[in-house]
Parts: sequence; C-alpha cells; structure tokens
Amino acid sequence: MNTAIFEKWESEIRGYCRAYPTVFKTAENARQTDEAGKEYIDFFAGAGVLNFGHNNPHMKEALIAYIQDNGVAHSLDMYTTAKRDFIESFVEHILEPRGMDHKLQFMGPTGTNAVEAALKLARRSTGRETVFAFSHGFHGMTLGALACTANDYFRNASGVPLGYVHRLPFETYCCAEGGKGCLKMLRAQLDDPSSGLKPPAAFIVEAIQAEGGVNVASAEWLKEVQQLAHDYGSLFIIDDIQAGCGRTGSYFSFDGMDLDPDIVCLAKGLGGFGTPIAMNMVKPEHDKHWNPGEHTGTFRGQNLSFVAGREALKYFRDDKMMEEVTAKGKVMRECLEKVAEKYADHDLQVRGKGMMQAIDMGEGALSKAIAKECFETGLLIGPCGTEGRVIKLIPPLTIPEEDLNTGLDLLVAAIDKVMKG
Ligand SMILES: Cc1ncc(COP(=O)(O)O)c(C=O)c1O
Repeated sequence: MNTAIFEKWESEIRGYCRAYPTVFKTAENARQTDEAGKEYIDFFAGAGVLNFGHNNPHMKEALIAYIQDNGVAHSLDMYTTAKRDFIESFVEHILEPRGMDHKLQFMGPTGTNAVEAALKLARRSTGRETVFAFSHGFHGMTLGALACTANDYFRNASGVPLGYVHRLPFETYCCAEGGKGCLKMLRAQLDDPSSGLKPPAAFIVEAIQAEGGVNVASAEWLKEVQQLAHDYGSLFIIDDIQAGCGRTGSYFSFDGMDLDPDIVCLAKGLGGFGTPIAMNMVKPEHDKHWNPGEHTGTFRGQNLSFVAGREALKYFRDDKMMEEVTAKGKVMRECLEKVAEKYADHDLQVRGKGMMQAIDMGEGALSKAIAKECFETGLLIGPCGTEGRVIKLIPPLTIPEEDLNTGLDLLVAAIDKVMKG
C-alpha cells in the first residue's frame, strides 16, 4: 500500500490514518474497500457522520439529479430551494411531531461551530460569562468549544488558557452519592451568596457522552440539570452532535425524557451523506438576541447537505428505521454482554443506547490492541474514553444484519485473541 506521499507531505496532526494504515478507495453502506481490494466492515461510520451508510443510494440519486439540474451548490445563507425543502422536512418530521418551535440556525458546517454559536448566544442572552460543562464532555476543538471539552490531550494543544468554563462531574462520574448528590451540592452552592460560585450562562451537556466513553445519563439526572439551569436563569444546551439523528433509536438522544432544551446542537449525521453541515435549534426567546449576520461562516447552509439531509429525514416519516435501530442495538448489546460475562474477572462494563454501544476494557492498551487486530481482520472500530479504553460500536444504522453479525464475530474474535494473549 503506497502511503509514502501522505507521510512525506501531510501534517504530523494525522490521526485516524495511523490506526487504519491503508488507502481507502470505495465505500458502500457499511463496507469500505481499500485500493488493494480488501473489504472492511465499518463500525465507526465517520465518527457518527454516516448514520445512513456510505453512498446511501437515495441520497446519491438526489445529489446527482440536483447537480445535473445546476442546483445551487454554494449560497452563503441566501435562500435556496434546497434549503427550503430541508427546512420544510425538518419541521414536518422532527419539530412538529414534538411540538417544538425552535428556530433553525445554520453556521460553519462543523460541530464545533455549532457549539461556538450556542455558547455565544447563551452568554449574550444572559449577560453572563461562565458556562458549566461536564467531566468527559466532548464539544469540539475551536477555543470556546474546547474550553467545554474535558480531555487534557486536546486542551493542552490550545496554547492559551481555556477560560470561562466551570467543570462539573457527569452523572456517571460521581461515586459517593452518585451524580444526583453532586447536583444537590451545586444547588446549595448556587443558593449561597458566599459559595464563590455564580449561576452560569448555560449548562452544556451530552445526553450520551460519545467520545467521552459512551456514558449514558438518566432522564432523572438530565431533568435535574435542566431544572437547575432554569431555576438560576441559565440556558440548557444539549449537544446532540454525535448521539442525535437517529443513532439511539429516536431522532434525538433525549427523546421521551420530558426535556425541553433551550438550544440543541446538531451536525455530523444531519447532512446524511457525509457532506458537512451544522445547525442549532434555538428557542425563539433566545434567538431574538442575535443581530443579522453576527455569527457568519462562508460555508453555512450547505446545499448538497440540505439535499442529502432531506433524504435522511425521510427515514423519520414512520417508525420503521427506529424499530430496526432498537433491534440491531439489542443484538450489539447482547454480544458485548456475553463478552463481559466471558471475562467476568476483568469487570468489563457494557454501556450504550440504540446503535451506540460500547465495552469498557478498563485499559487503553487492551482496547487499542483489539482495534488493531480488528483492522487486520477487516473491521473498523474506534476506541474512545479515558486513554481510549472504551471500544465504541457505531455502525451505520442501515447496516445489513449479515454485516452486523460478521462485524460482531470479528470483534469477539479480536477480543478473544488479545485477552488470551
Ligand atoms: C458531541 C460532540 N460535539 C461536538 C463535536 C465536534 O464536532 P466537529 O468535529 O464536527 O467539530 C463532536 C465530534 O466528535 C461531538 O462528538
């Protein structure tokens, strides 16, 4: 495999290609093929972008037709037919069924950009500077979002202090009284004018921390975070960038939890095809604090992503796709639980929801060796969490059952090989 040109010319910042040292050429649904013709089952799906598979046929057809008709590809934030069609579908399939009246804000097409916009607006609308974020949270790499991201490896690259964020323990982080105990203490601090802690502009939280190690928050805990936000005049922001767009068995990872976030950040799977897009859903009473064009971005509102994203939204016209996600998620979970049972003396933890499932190997070296073995045998999988010790499974939601089972067999074989030394 000729990788010399990358090694010679591409920056040292290269990351995933070091774990997957091959040159990929084609991809279809849950399979990627390298230029030597070796096929890989994809349990990584572009870190949660490719929920609807590589080269989804409906999206491909819609994109080709749009381009052939000379549809507008780039338009800053001007009105286009593609944007109108996307917004209409989003309102019809996602907002209206939930009784949500959030405004839709487009920005530069990455998750971190959505988070930056959410932070700016929360600070603007409350007149406060500090934001509360959680241990193991991952919100992006630009300085504002990075200040909310917990991981030291990324934070250390900033070169400047990452300020105006106060860190709280996520629900699953606390051990003594559990996450709820921490929130009780926080409430006491916010009530006490001499605690040294002032109410923040916002609480930003992932309902399921994806990069942070697939830590799943309970509805009860999230509701208490929301209650705290609202009791102290702060915004409640849910970052659903990785766990949203159908990944957990419903459109939002927090569906059915009786939550009412002020801002929801979306990106990754929103465009469906792998073309970039980011969008915040913002309650109108906060959205009114923006002045026109105040948070711009040359690539805000990507028409090709609107075209593909509209096709993605068609999967939410009925419950069929989400029922499949729940069923496939169960297969994934049962497989991981069997592994945990087999190696009961290692106390491996299985966590997840829908088709984001994970096994915490307890040690980064173990999970990295397993991911390497998977790569050799034709399975792409990405470690996450502290020191990469959690193996996260996020295959495309459209993965055929046969590929899902083959991928799980490859994973179990790799775990067995590594565990047996
Ligand atoms: C929850 C969450 N927020 C924000 C981001 C940042 O998105 P991007 O890499 O597109 O900037 C990610 C990326 O993995 C994420 O998982």
